[in-house]
Amino acid sequence: MTTLGLSADELLSTTRSVRKRIDFDRPVEPALIEECLEFAVQAPTGSNRQGWRFLVVTDDDKKAALADLYRRGWELYSTMPASTGATRTKASDDRASQQMRVLDSASYLAENMYRVPAMLIPCMPGRVEHPTGTGIASMMASIIPSTWSFMLAARERGLGTCWTTIHLMFEEEAAAVLDIPFEKVSQIALITVGHTIGTDFTPATRSPASTVTDWNTWTA
Ligand SMILES: Cc1cc2nc3c(=O)[nH]c(=O)nc-3n(C[C@H](O)[C@H](O)[C@H](O)COP(=O)(O)O)c2cc1C
Repeated sequence: MTTLGLSADELLSTTRSVRKRIDFDRPVEPALIEECLEFAVQAPTGSNRQGWRFLVVTDDDKKAALADLYRRGWELYSTMPASTGATRTKASDDRASQQMRVLDSASYLAENMYRVPAMLIPCMPGRVEHPTGTGIASMMASIIPSTWSFMLAARERGLGTCWTTIHLMFEEEAAAVLDIPFEKVSQIALITVGHTIGTDFTPATRSPASTVTDWNTWTA
């Protein structure tokens, strides 16, 4: 399997949400997805429980049904203040224009979701509304690192991914599409997957970590 040969630092700083640069016409080989999932299951889990489940969706009818739910959710979400970053009181001009680009890109994905070659739905046993044991933080932390590992492995193999959650507004309907037992299993995300058009991606502009880091004592 061909890999890009990125350094760990390059991989960690250039794994972006890819929406507009997905090759919708090029299928993703199942073996490639399986290979990325082998890295996903190397991730940590609370009590080493490894309760993760991954549902890969490549069936056109099922993708179209999920894309419809996603579009419905997007129409609701895009009218909310949170979608434009308007709720962020300290958003700088740079941040605001970055947010507008994200919105444009996300809107493109919403329109074209049915065309993505594959979708990955990471799931956990139990309902997020009723987490057991050590609670929601443990439940989420037992699936999110593995999913991110999948996304990193995908990037190294020339695949682009995007973490999405909007279909979860209609999670029960999505569960019905995929035969997921909704009462017993929570969907955590819908990760879009496809070969990227070009492989050059760059680090994002972010506030330096020092501006969000304290040592020993919380500062206001
Ligand atoms: C919890 C979570 C939910 C997200 N939901 C969506 C989504 O529903 N649709 C979408 O297009 N992007 C979604 N994103 C992607 C973010 O918009 C993206 O990570 C952010 O704009 C930064 O861009 P980057 O990942 O390219 O650095 C989500 C990301 C996270 C972590």
